[in-house]
Amino acid sequence: MTARARLTDAPGGPAALGATAAEGSPMVQAVALLRDFPSGDGVVHALRGVDLTVERGEVLAVRGRSGSGKTTLLNILGGLDRPTSGSVAIDGRRISDLHEAELVALRRTTVSYIFQTFGLIPILSAAENVEIPLRLLRAEPRERDRRVGELLALVGLAGRAHHRPAELSGGEQQRVAVARALASHPKLLLADEPTGQLDLETGRTVMILLRNVVRAEGVTAIVATHDPMMLDLADRVLELRDGAWVGGASQDIGERSPRSPAP
Ligand SMILES: Nc1ncnc2c1ncn2[C@@H]1O[C@H](COP(=O)(O)OP(=O)(O)OP(=O)(O)O)[C@@H](O)[C@H]1O
Ligand SMILES: [Mg+2]
Repeated sequence: MTARARLTDAPGGPAALGATAAEGSPMVQAVALLRDFPSGDGVVHALRGVDLTVERGEVLAVRGRSGSGKTTLLNILGGLDRPTSGSVAIDGRRISDLHEAELVALRRTTVSYIFQTFGLIPILSAAENVEIPLRLLRAEPRERDRRVGELLALVGLAGRAHHRPAELSGGEQQRVAVARALASHPKLLLADEPTGQLDLETGRTVMILLRNVVRAEGVTAIVATHDPMMLDLADRVLELRDGAWVGGASQDIGERSPRSPAP
């Protein structure tokens, strides 16, 4: 039994989400996103009308100064936050229509996250950290072991399976986080400044790895980053400024660069 079949059958799997995903639809379709945060007496307009379409298999880099709205956008796309207005469809499903339990299922099966701070559980080994999403989906032990081994090899850490995060370098920890994010065969990977805490050279290695594993696994990825390496590696780069795309919505249609082969 494949991981995909097992995971799809698992409680809370895609079937639990009800509506069938439209394979022909873009992976991400966001329209007119506004997100206001109350702030003292006033309000912060973190997103001011953001449209975004991301095709399946695309690697999109989102850049923009601190406070431009990158994290706010990723959180809304991942169902961690809701927009003040506007709509988001992921894999053909409007996530604004989903209840909390359905959002949890979406986060377990369809969307995964990589954080700047790695987010590994300190008392668990690298292998156990990678295994978490598979346990949540109640994958069979043999399938879990197989997938964990496959992913640790994919990120070049087969020899570090039993190390805890404190026994790994920053770059190695982020590679474990990449492996963990891919464990459940997500369709969409959201990475919020994944190399922000790494030195330039290590960040570069992690970005190349991230891009290559995303390609190998056929995942769609949106990466918020300032990293020039990722800006080079991405299929497309969009820039946020004060909660809106630089160049307006038309930027979302143009500026597609041909996909470059893996180095
Ligand atoms: N929970 C919140 N409450 C109030 N204001 C918020 C909240 N979250 C974000 N903001 C504000 O929204 C704006 C966008 O923040 P966001 O975190 O999305 O920026 P960012 O582009 O991710 O920045 P950075 O590069 O520093 O991570 C900022 O002005 C921020 O202060
Ligand atoms: Mg941020």
